Amino acid sequence: MSGTFLYEGKTKIVELSEDGQSVILTFKDDITAGDGAKHDVLTSKGQFCSETTARLMHYLNTKGVYTMFINYIPPNKIRARKLKMIPLEVIVRFKKAGSFVRRYGGTEGEDLPEALVEFTYKSDAMHDPLMCVEHLEVLGILDRENAVKIINQAKQAANFLKEFFSLHGFELWDIKFEYGFDEAGNICLGDEISPDTMRLRKAGEIFDKDIYRRDLGNPMEKYEVVLNLCRSILL
Ligand code: C5P
Repeated sequence: MSGTFLYEGKTKIVELSEDGQSVILTFKDDITAGDGAKHDVLTSKGQFCSETTARLMHYLNTKGVYTMFINYIPPNKIRARKLKMIPLEVIVRFKKAGSFVRRYGGTEGEDLPEALVEFTYKSDAMHDPLMCVEHLEVLGILDRENAVKIINQAKQAANFLKEFFSLHGFELWDIKFEYGFDEAGNICLGDEISPDTMRLRKAGEIFDKDIYRRDLGNPMEKYEVVLNLCRSILL
């Protein structure tokens, strides 16, 4: 399963598949926070996050959301569509938390009146600056039409996931997506969907990367709980 190396990030390795038709993402056991300032290696993380991503993307595919997911290669790889990634993090927020509270005030866990979509530019050196649609256009990152498409697609995907988790008694507070263009120029959901990329709560308990960010111990036990509920989605 070893193809041509394309890219290595903080938590993933991307290779071109042997036939050149898809990419193989390998999820590493690394966990980082604070733009890479905090870094650890946690046993099973790659498996938990890849399998969770595989099942949640498959779920979204069944709902008609276009994702990169092709198939899961246990324990820690995903075969995915080749995408030209857009260097943005697209955050959908249902509740106030994290950087939203730091920027705009309010209390953690307070409802927003409606789902809010934010764009940040992917750059650890610049600390992922927040961007509005005008920034995206002027800086040549994305035109308005595609920005609006992404806003609508991100809200739709986040709503499907919120509904899925609420059926299991969990609250999805916010979630980060990354998008790319497929070979035909269509916008496609890529990257990862896991407790690393969302805030997920149940009865005040934290089931996401805030456990790590706030030094509350090893989060893998909680990541495994999330994976187990995602196993109700059959691949
Ligand atoms: O920190 P902030 O409140 O902006 O995070 C919003 C959501 O985006 C959280 O679920 C967080 O885990 C996710 N996120 C991410 N990767 C980043 C920044 C935020 O997955 N680099």
